[in-house]
Amino acid sequence: MPRSDFTRPSPVWFFREYEPVGVDLGSPAAVAAYDRNQGTDPYADDALLDRLGVGEGTRLVDLACGTGSLVVQAARRGAEAHGVDVSEEMLAFAQARAERAGASAHWHQAGFLDYVHHAEPADVVTTKSALHQLPDFWKQHSLLNAAGMLRPGGTFYLWDVMFSFPPGDAAEHLQRWIDTAGRPEGRGFTRSDFEAHVREEFSTYDWILEGMLERAGFEIVSRAFHSSTHGEFRCRRR
Ligand SMILES: C[S@@+](CC[C@H](N)C(=O)[O-])C[C@H]1O[C@@H](n2cnc3c(N)ncnc32)[C@H](O)[C@@H]1O
Repeated sequence: MPRSDFTRPSPVWFFREYEPVGVDLGSPAAVAAYDRNQGTDPYADDALLDRLGVGEGTRLVDLACGTGSLVVQAARRGAEAHGVDVSEEMLAFAQARAERAGASAHWHQAGFLDYVHHAEPADVVTTKSALHQLPDFWKQHSLLNAAGMLRPGGTFYLWDVMFSFPPGDAAEHLQRWIDTAGRPEGRGFTRSDFEAHVREEFSTYDWILEGMLERAGFEIVSRAFHSSTHGEFRCRRR
C-alpha cells in the first residue's frame, strides 16, 4: 500500500493549503451564501450515502466538508461522521447545522494534506467539489493520505469538476460550461466565479485523476461523467 512520506511538521516547501485559491468561499458572506449557490440538498446527500452503504456505525470521513450537509446526514443515520475542512468559518456553519439537526459529528480544522486520522480506519472517505483546490502534484499526495485513513476494502468517493472532453476541444467545452452555469448575482455562482475557477483553480482531466487514484492504492469500481466538466469516481482501497 503506497503512502505519502511527508514528515510532520511539514517542510517549508509544503503546499499552503490554508491559503485561499480562486473563488473566495471562506468569508462569512460567502459561507452564508454557499448552500444556495451550490444547491446543497440533504436529499441528494442521503441518496449518495445510500449508494455508498453508509448506515449505523459506518465510520465516514468527508474531506473539505464545507457547510457539512453530507456529514450531518451521515451522523443522523448513526454513522461515526468526521468533517474535515481548512476553513474555520465553514466548520462553524457545519457545527451549527449539526446542532440544529440534533446530530453528533466530529469536526476537524485540517486540510487534504495535513489531516491525520487518529480514529480507527474509516470505512468510507468522501470528497465533493474540492479536490480541484490542489495542483496535481498535491492532489496525488492528498489521495495517498485519503487511502491511508481507509481500511482495506474501504470506499473512496470523489466528485468534482473534472474534464472528460478531448484536450483539443477544451475551449469550446469550458466556454459552454461557463455560459450555461453562471447565474445572476445573488442567485448562485456567477459567470465570473466559473471564469475564475478555470483560470485560478486546478481542475484536471479524468484520465489524470484515474492515474493518480491507481497510484494511491485504489481500484476504480465505477466512474460516471455527468457532463464533460463534472464527474465522479467510486473506488475501493486495495
Ligand atoms: C466548493 S466547497 C465544497 C464543500 C462541500 N464538500 C460540498 O460538497 O459542498 C470547497 C471546500 O474546500 C475547502 N478546502 C479548500 N482547500 C482545502 C484543503 N486543502 N483541505 C481541506 N479543505 C479545503 C474549502 O474551505 C471549502 O469548504
